[in-house]
Amino acid sequence: MDASELRRVLADVPGWLGDEEALALYEAARTCTGRGAIVEIGSWRGRSTICLALGSKDGPGVPVVAIDRHTDKTFVDFQENIRRAGIADLVRPIRATSDEAFTEFDEPIELIFIDASHKYDDVRRDFDQWVPLVVEGGTVAMHDTTWEGSKLVSEEAIYGSRHFKDVRFVPSSTTVGVKVASVTARDRRQSQRALLAKWTAELGMRVSRFLPKRVIRLGRRTISSVGGR
Ligand SMILES: C[S@@+](CC[C@H](N)C(=O)[O-])C[C@H]1O[C@@H](n2cnc3c(N)ncnc32)[C@H](O)[C@@H]1O
Repeated sequence: MDASELRRVLADVPGWLGDEEALALYEAARTCTGRGAIVEIGSWRGRSTICLALGSKDGPGVPVVAIDRHTDKTFVDFQENIRRAGIADLVRPIRATSDEAFTEFDEPIELIFIDASHKYDDVRRDFDQWVPLVVEGGTVAMHDTTWEGSKLVSEEAIYGSRHFKDVRFVPSSTTVGVKVASVTARDRRQSQRALLAKWTAELGMRVSRFLPKRVIRLGRRTISSVGGR
């Protein structure tokens, strides 16, 4: 599946995930090797779930465990959206809080996407509880890492960590990293470059209404290439 096909599938599914982020989740799931589950914390109406499950379908075919408390009555829409995307059989919805789901969950994870509460203490707890289950070489992705608690947790626990390599920022707000036992000096420099790219994007967002569209487009392309591998 290419970017335009993914965009077409997501066209009627509301959510905050942009095209580049959608493709990054799809690719992260597609390139999983089957060493663990794919877990999502925070599904809402299923936009990110669909990206992960379509990637898994074109890749290892492992289930996507989609955790959300669905307190704002999103579960019916979620189910309908994943059914229409043709991936319902690959999705294992868990209608519970992240903490409740964690007490019942005991499997290795190869890819986790964290996009639930964005308050610092909640994001930190999601990270500290779930990421130890991620296998070495597995991937952690977080959304909204340009603001609130998700920003701080990503900077402390991914960009500033000695246990993540290939760290990159995907505009508009996603951070991705590969969990490892230890990093090299080269990996550290890559994490620092990716953090700079993220900070530049944050600054760009603040001033974007004063900038011409072509400058914004060029900025996004540059940030993607600097923040990438
Ligand atoms: C930003 S939305 C997720 C958006 C989704 N990933 C997408 O692509 O559209 C955040 C979701 O997290 C859920 N949530 C917030 N705190 C949670 C918690 N402690 N446990 C489980 N779900 C939670 C909310 O119910 C909401 O649906």
